[in-house]
Amino acid sequence: MIHDLAVSVRAWVREARRIVLLSGAGMSAESGVPTFRDAQTGLWAQFRPEELATEQAFRARPGMVWDWYALRREMIDRVAPNAGHLAVAAFQRRHPGRLTVVTQNVDGLHQRAGSPDVLALHGNIADDRWLDAPRPCCLAQAPQPGQPPRCATCGNLRRPAVVWFGELLPAADLAAAEEAAARCDLMLVVGTSGVVYPAAGLARATRGRVAIVNPEPTELDDAADAVLAGTAAALLPQLLED
Ligand code: APR
Repeated sequence: MIHDLAVSVRAWVREARRIVLLSGAGMSAESGVPTFRDAQTGLWAQFRPEELATEQAFRARPGMVWDWYALRREMIDRVAPNAGHLAVAAFQRRHPGRLTVVTQNVDGLHQRAGSPDVLALHGNIADDRWLDAPRPCCLAQAPQPGQPPRCATCGNLRRPAVVWFGELLPAADLAAAEEAAARCDLMLVVGTSGVVYPAAGLARATRGRVAIVNPEPTELDDAADAVLAGTAAALLPQLLED
């Protein structure tokens, strides 16, 4: 059974020459990845994610923040793309160049589903980088294993290559996302609360239609031409079928 409004959005998909899919944590919820604003568990329950996902928090408690990311990495390694990710990648295979994925997610599930050229605005949790600009000693030898790994000579730390609160987004990816948003005829906004900028601003910057897929109200509902109350894995296969 497909709802009337979903029928309209499916028609918009068929008409659109260029589509952007802007995804957030809810895109991966049905893969078993807790959304960012879900309750924290264990040792970390006393902190809000916003208090851990900052450079300041990492410098103050590198071991604790590193372990929090290690747990998230292990959890993400164990899950798989869901029917929503797979429907997006299948659409892209059938219609090369027509749909651009812009994601706030760091879990790599769009990429694992087979989506090409994903614009991962908040980085990728599987990658690390140096906390401080690397010195020759950092580059000359493998990091010394630890939590976090460090340069054996100067003590520089490895950190997750994700964008923390207060940090700039990768400039080239953000510029590409802004251009795609400006040019698209349709933006599908899936599984994001719409509270974190500049990503949320993309939905307000497009001239195209905006359709939201989310079981709950979001901060972007006022910018939408259609709000579909449902989940990514249930609705995307319907919206993106030929
Ligand atoms: N399908 C679609 N949407 C869902 C589903 C689902 N199965 N389950 C939950 N949602 C929705 C929730 O209703 C909520 O609106 O997903 C959204 C998740 O919101 P957040 O946890 O705030 O995640 P997100 O919007 O991606 O957060 C943005 O904030 O903390 C930073 O960098 C982090 O990328 C993250 C950014």
